[in-house]
Amino acid sequence: MNVLIIGSGGREHAFAWKIAQSPLCGQLYVAPGNAGTAQVATNVALGDDFAAVADFCHQRQIGLLLVGPEAPLVAGLVDHLRADPRLAPMGIIGPPQAGAQLEGSKDFAKQFMQRHGIPTARYQSFTLATLDQGLAYLGHHPLPVVLKADGLAAGKGVLIVTDHQEARQRLRQMLEEALFGPASATVVVEQFLAGIELSVFVLTDGQHYCILPAAKDYKRVGEGDTGLNTGGMGAVSPVPFADAAFMEKVENRIVKPTLAGLRAEGIPYVGFIFIGLMNVQGEPYVIEYNVRMGDPETEVVVPRLQSDLLELLHLTAQGRLAEATLQVDPRTATTIMLVSGGYPGGFAKGKPMTGWPQLTEVLPFHAGTVAHGDQVLTNGGRVLALTALAPSLPEALARANAAAQTIDFEGKYYRRDIGFDL
Ligand code: AMP
Ligand code: GLY
Repeated sequence: MNVLIIGSGGREHAFAWKIAQSPLCGQLYVAPGNAGTAQVATNVALGDDFAAVADFCHQRQIGLLLVGPEAPLVAGLVDHLRADPRLAPMGIIGPPQAGAQLEGSKDFAKQFMQRHGIPTARYQSFTLATLDQGLAYLGHHPLPVVLKADGLAAGKGVLIVTDHQEARQRLRQMLEEALFGPASATVVVEQFLAGIELSVFVLTDGQHYCILPAAKDYKRVGEGDTGLNTGGMGAVSPVPFADAAFMEKVENRIVKPTLAGLRAEGIPYVGFIFIGLMNVQGEPYVIEYNVRMGDPETEVVVPRLQSDLLELLHLTAQGRLAEATLQVDPRTATTIMLVSGGYPGGFAKGKPMTGWPQLTEVLPFHAGTVAHGDQVLTNGGRVLALTALAPSLPEALARANAAAQTIDFEGKYYRRDIGFDL
């Protein structure tokens, strides 16, 4: 079976690395990919043009399309491809636009959770037309209070504010001055949940589901979880506090009602649902839904899958997920993300990376990299995810940290404290 993966990050390299090992895999393409995906697949430049993707899938007889990032899902790529009769036999992992709203609109996601009784923080949404009500609502809201841009904002549209004056000022900026562009035309004002976060991943064919290993992501740029939010500086799987009792609550209170809700609303959802959870004294609450796998969580989840991922995805696309079995490596995986100095603000690109020959005992998943002759150059903020698997978390961390020292490039930065809170 020929496979096309859309995306260019560490998540897509991890997918490609795993799928390339499947005996079911024919030609494997990644669009646009990076220097790492080029080692296990053929990179192709298709851009954001849905018609170009459709033509490519037809011409190369793609049997399975896996959409990595959220943007094409929210923009309706899957609906476009499903409407193309040439592509009727192609399996697609990724929801239609109606399902992608779970990530594309936080207001939609909150209303969905309310309709289906799914535990989440209390909230109200406001627009410019209801700014005055919003300001009044904030006036007596318990602190801290969370302000979220409704739309996609690359993880940057969330503000946690600790005084009423600032909260009102921020709401004005988001609504009157488009602080996060069109994404903040609607603002969700939410109760702050104090707890520890984790990510739970569900793969569903619309009827059946399987829960993949949980992971914990480290989003802040600074050690000790300080500084600006990033796309993710590292991850760990499994998550020690996500024990059987906790996961049973997650499954019964969140996973099942979410999938039943999608069915009840007539949304045919085939793909991943990434549930961002807060563990509040042992009780799970949904912070957010994403309609794809996480990055860098994929770089710790996929290496723990012993099952054939392509077979799993193929069965999912065919509505036969019930026939699949999931084998998971009991070892701990951790990944450390090397980033370009300055990220998540401005940073330089095009820096040569060295240290590859000395790299042992880790899986290097490329994110922002590009091949240039024999060299690999940095090409983004998040550059390389170094994943180690070991019997214990300290051993996995030691290996990943050693590898993080080995690879070098000008301006390299990484967090040395991934997993510090576990
Ligand atoms: P989101 O984009 O919704 O995942 O929010 C980004 C980050 O903000 C989350 O990963 C949390 O760390 C934090 N956050 C969001 N909502 C809340 C909340 N209600 N209570 C506490 N922290 C939150
Ligand atoms: N690591 C968080 C995300 O993928 O959204």
